[in-house]
Amino acid sequence: MGLSARAPKICVVGSSIMDLVTYAARLPALGETLPGTAFATAFGGKGANQAVMAAQLGAVVSMVSKLGSDTFGDDYLARLRSFDIDAEHVQRSASTATGVAAIGVDASGANAIIVVPGANDELSAADVASAASVITDADVVVCQWEIPLDAVASALRIARNAGVLTVFNPAPVRGALDDALCALVDVLCPNESEAEALTGHAIATVDDAEAAARSLSARGARTVVITLGERGALVVDAEGARVHTAPVVRAIDTTGAGDAFVAAMATMLAAGHAIDDAVRKAVEIASESVQHRGTQASYPDLRSAAPWR
Ligand code: RIB
Repeated sequence: MGLSARAPKICVVGSSIMDLVTYAARLPALGETLPGTAFATAFGGKGANQAVMAAQLGAVVSMVSKLGSDTFGDDYLARLRSFDIDAEHVQRSASTATGVAAIGVDASGANAIIVVPGANDELSAADVASAASVITDADVVVCQWEIPLDAVASALRIARNAGVLTVFNPAPVRGALDDALCALVDVLCPNESEAEALTGHAIATVDDAEAAARSLSARGARTVVITLGERGALVVDAEGARVHTAPVVRAIDTTGAGDAFVAAMATMLAAGHAIDDAVRKAVEIASESVQHRGTQASYPDLRSAAPWR
């Protein structure tokens, strides 16, 4: 496939969540109360983070999601529109609040997150089917697991039937993945702990990650990309296994770096780049994001650079 002359089109089917973020020297132990150093309310959710990152790379983005009928939902809709993200298929629940995440970030930039999905858990397969036009119009559809798996499966099936490339970031892992769903995935992109949870393979080394990736490939995913944090990312497909290393940087806040990675990889693939070029660019962009505080706030704005060209 040659490179596209027009902007890549991405459809994100996934979560929109308000993040309540506390920063502290370290994360508390069970039962412990600690003084923190800062607090922020921020726009998050893996789906919306990926949509915003893709928009900041110059992609044409549509989002299929569900918010509550509350002020967080109003604010989020305005946020998506401020990035020119097509939010026609962002629905509002009449009865359930917008999702929230309690996030703690320590001095090394590592985080711990509790997500209450709220309205995201009401996004149904029928809701996704009603948004089929934006899925089939995209070059790539991207899903995560902060919405019900039925909704994910519906999006992947619609995309596959229309010949649209599918990317599934199984984050957070919320159960087992069946082979029928794996077979609908062109690029499956877990991090190390998600790959461990999906396969039962403990991952300490790159060889361990490769074994986990091969077992996910055997279940039907065409390409498996496992993000390896500061070590970069591993690609496993029919051509074999390759590691794309990350530059050495000082991490301030790693929250949302995985979402920056997924969005950048999807945008590059949507523009017609090969998987290795896409993963190299994704590693670079995720490495940039960890050097800044916040999730969407840490994403580079590359709209005018259009790095997918
Ligand atoms: O990947 C980071 C995201 O995970 C946060 O924005 C939070 O909302 C959780 O969903």
